[in-house]
Amino acid sequence: MSHIWKANKSGLHTAAQRLAGGHLLGVPTETVYGLAADATNENAVAAIYETKGRPRFNPLIVHVRAGEDANRLAHLTPGAKKLMDAFWPGPLTLVLAKRPDAEIAKLVSAGLDTLALRSPAHPVAQALLDAFGRPFVAPSANRSGRMSPTCADHVIEEFGDRVPVLDGGPCTAGVESTIVAVGPEHAAILRPGPITAGQIEAILGHPLSQPTKGIQAPGMMTSHYAPNAPLRLNATSVKDTERWLGFGGTKGADLDLSPSGNLTEAAAHLFAYLRRLDAIPGPIAVAPIPHEGLGIAINDRLTRAAAPREAPRK
Ligand code: TXA
Ligand code: MG
Repeated sequence: MSHIWKANKSGLHTAAQRLAGGHLLGVPTETVYGLAADATNENAVAAIYETKGRPRFNPLIVHVRAGEDANRLAHLTPGAKKLMDAFWPGPLTLVLAKRPDAEIAKLVSAGLDTLALRSPAHPVAQALLDAFGRPFVAPSANRSGRMSPTCADHVIEEFGDRVPVLDGGPCTAGVESTIVAVGPEHAAILRPGPITAGQIEAILGHPLSQPTKGIQAPGMMTSHYAPNAPLRLNATSVKDTERWLGFGGTKGADLDLSPSGNLTEAAAHLFAYLRRLDAIPGPIAVAPIPHEGLGIAINDRLTRAAAPREAPRK
């Protein structure tokens, strides 16, 4: 039996039953594919950490249908409400104070008194939330430290037949959601993503702060999103042994993230192209990407992918 499930009525029904039974499932979102589990089931959430090889101190994002569901789980600040109105459903995760009585597995927040919440825009993710009737947690569906999956086949590459995947086609955004911590007075970006700092400031009506020591995303380790091959950034020429990932019409590139220099297109191709080049032996060199708009998130992921690896890779 194929482990890639069609997202039709019967596929969605089976998927919701699988979550209700405490099992894991690959789920499409507009950013990247997630490894989903019932957010209220402690054992199911534990299985996510185990399956990904994820450190237990790294909390998970709770996916909800809409703002009302978020309001049952966390205290919504006025800034958070504005951002939800503007960007939900969509690629924005809000870190908010958790309600003490929130019906959510303890492991989700990894001991923090905050929760990360997001309402995904992908129609299959929304249909699954409807069919399931409860929130699910979903980290990116990759083994810890590796590149995020942007199509169903990538999830199979990561976990083989251990996890079935609901097929929602290729992800349109291609980089993970922007994470914003929104306190009563300050808001700070903890992870850059498809929604830019400028878009967030325009809605809040004030500038963003730098994240303080107390509010950081514990998962933003220096080395992350990494292919097996070593990565060299801002490459304007390549050595014989290197594969070249271009941008904006780089001459001689093996693959070009966006020949026309479009950052939205580049983000959508980023992880898929890194996977393709990683399948060919030899290091990968990446052409310069502008540090503006969506380029901030792309450069953030590339910098972490190129960082020295903390642990030996399996
Ligand atoms: O686009 C996305 O956000 C994807 C899709 C599947 O929704 N999910 C995703 O999850 O990227 P993950 O687990 O790969 O990244 C979640 C990040 C981690 O860096 C984690 O540390 C941070 O969110 N995070 C989760 N809860 C947090 C909290 N309470 N405070 C601060 N950071 C938190
Ligand atoms: Mg991830």
